[in-house]
Amino acid sequence: MAKGAFHMLLLLPIVYAGAGAQASTDDGVEAACQKTSNASFCAELLLPYASQFVDNDANKMGYAAISATLAQVQSTRAYMVRQTTEPTATEEERAAVSSCLGNIGNSDDSLRNAAQEFDLFRAAKGEQRSIHKESVIKMIDSARNDLTGCSDLSKKHKDLVGAGIIGESARMLERSVQACSVAEAFIH
Ligand SMILES: *[C@@H]1O[C@H](CO)[C@@H](O)[C@H](O)[C@H]1NC(C)=O
Repeated sequence: MAKGAFHMLLLLPIVYAGAGAQASTDDGVEAACQKTSNASFCAELLLPYASQFVDNDANKMGYAAISATLAQVQSTRAYMVRQTTEPTATEEERAAVSSCLGNIGNSDDSLRNAAQEFDLFRAAKGEQRSIHKESVIKMIDSARNDLTGCSDLSKKHKDLVGAGIIGESARMLERSVQACSVAEAFIH
């Protein structure tokens, strides 16, 4: 009992310090996300990158938003690739998922290119800066188009959409499409 209380005393300051730091970093993300069309989705997406949002640095925030979007697309892609060999998946489900993999691979490439292009944008001055900015936006647009195409494909398999593989793929694709919009809101 006494020993337990002693440990509690030691732990409390650490817990409070942790909570304090957490609150301020999360505040940065939440404030930054107010300008996006779905602030709660944006905050959820960017929370793992909260440390990039503490000093309101547009370069850090933009790069973090592209990285978060790429991570969302990659986890969607990994999920869908896994389903193609999932023994419990039906032939139809596998075919539906497979038909999407080309698109999602393209969107992954486009977002990687966008991240590289963002580095050029960060370093550029004057007219070059707006040229690179336009390229970044185009690359994210292209990723979004591929993802939207993929998301529409899954809607075509309406009979398969539900709690199963296609439903989960559709949900993850929708979040990937939304993530692209979040990323674009941070390119400036
Ligand atoms: C925000 O995004 C989430 C996640 O996709 C979605 O469930 C929710 O409906 C969206 N809210 C609005 C207001 O669009």
